[in-house]
Amino acid sequence: TTVEWEAESYDMGGHDTYMHKEICEQPDAVDRVLRGRIDDRFNTVHLGGLNLDAREARGIRRVKILGCGTSYHAGLIGAGLIESLARIPADAEPASEFRYRNPVVDPDTLYIAVSQSGETYDVLAAVQELKRKGGRVLGVVNVVGSAIAREADGGTYVHAGPEVCVVSTKCFTNTVVAFALIALHLGRIRDLSVSEGRRIIDGLRRLPAQISEILESEGEIKKLAEEYADAKSMMFIGRVRGYPVALEASLKLKEISYIHAEAYPASELKHGPLALIEPALPTVAIVPDDELLEKNRAALEEIKARSGRILAVAHREQEKADHTIVVPKNEDELDPILMGIPLQLLAYHTALSLGRDIDKPRNLAKSVTVE
Ligand code: G6P
Repeated sequence: TTVEWEAESYDMGGHDTYMHKEICEQPDAVDRVLRGRIDDRFNTVHLGGLNLDAREARGIRRVKILGCGTSYHAGLIGAGLIESLARIPADAEPASEFRYRNPVVDPDTLYIAVSQSGETYDVLAAVQELKRKGGRVLGVVNVVGSAIAREADGGTYVHAGPEVCVVSTKCFTNTVVAFALIALHLGRIRDLSVSEGRRIIDGLRRLPAQISEILESEGEIKKLAEEYADAKSMMFIGRVRGYPVALEASLKLKEISYIHAEAYPASELKHGPLALIEPALPTVAIVPDDELLEKNRAALEEIKARSGRILAVAHREQEKADHTIVVPKNEDELDPILMGIPLQLLAYHTALSLGRDIDKPRNLAKSVTVE
C-alpha cells in the first residue's frame, strides 16, 4: 500500500486546486478501497486487518464511532450503515466530546476511531483513554502507519491516496465506503442474507461509474453555485440517511466559502428553524427516492409556502424545488455516498466565485495535532 501512495503524484495534474483534483479522483479512489476485498463466493468482504474473528463479531452489542469534523460526519453515515446492514445499535460522537465526559467503557461495545490523517489529537486521546479502560478499538484511517492506526487494535485503511486540500472530499467518500464494507462484513456474519449481501456488493461496484456521471454535471452545478453565492446563510436539510449528508455539505460550504450554513433534520424544521425561512435564506434539501420521499416532499412544501428558495439533490426533478440536481440511484443504503458528491462541487464553485483560498481556508489546519 505504501507503494501505491508513492506512485500517486502530489502535483495538481492540470487542476487549479488540490480540492478540485481530489474531487475528480473519487471514482479511482472508490475503486481502490473496494479492490481485493470483495468475496463473490460468500457475498461478503475480507477485511483481515480488523483482527476480529466471527465469534467475536457475533458478541458485539453496540458500535460507537468517534471522529472529528468531516470524519465524524463519515462516522454518522457509518453508524447508519452498521445499524441497517448488521442490525447492531450504532452511533457516532465527536471524539473531542467523548474524551471529556468520562465515558462508560463497555467490553461488548466495538469502538471505531475515524481519522483521515490518523494524527488528530482529540481522536488519539479518545483511543488512548478507551484502551486504558480495556475497550476494543478499531481504526478507520487513511494515512498508513499513522499514530491512530498504530494505537488501535486493528482496523481498515481507506486507501483514498494523499489528500492535500485542508478540507476533506475523497477521503470522506472512501471512509463511508469503508464503513459500508465493515457493515457488510459484520452483517454477513450475523443476519444479512446471501442475496442481501449480493445486493450491496452490486451496489458498491456501481459507485465509481455513478460518481463519474455526477462529475460530468459540474458545469450545471457551477451555474447553480454562482446563483446561490450571494446568500448570507444557507440551510441544509435531510432525513435519517440524508441528515449526515446535509451536515457534511453545510460544513464544506462554511469551511471554504465562509458562508454561514446550518444543517437540520428535515423533521425538525417545524420545531424552530422554519422561523428563519424567507427568500434570503436558501435551503439545500436531500431528497432521495426512498421510503421517506413523501415526507421529504412535505418539507419542501412547507419551505415553499414561506417563499424559501430550494435547491434539491434528488433522484428525479422535484416540482417544489427551484432547482434540482439529479443524481443516479443506487441501493438506498449507499445513496448518501452519491448525494454528497454534487454538494462538494457546489461548495467548491461557491468558494471559487467568491475568490476564496480554497485549499487553505483561513483559520483551519489539515490536521489538528495539539490539544
Ligand atoms: C481538521 C480539518 C478537517 C478534518 C478534521 C479531522 O479540523 O480541518 O477537515 O475533518 O481535522 O481530521 P482527521 O485527519 O482526523 O480526519
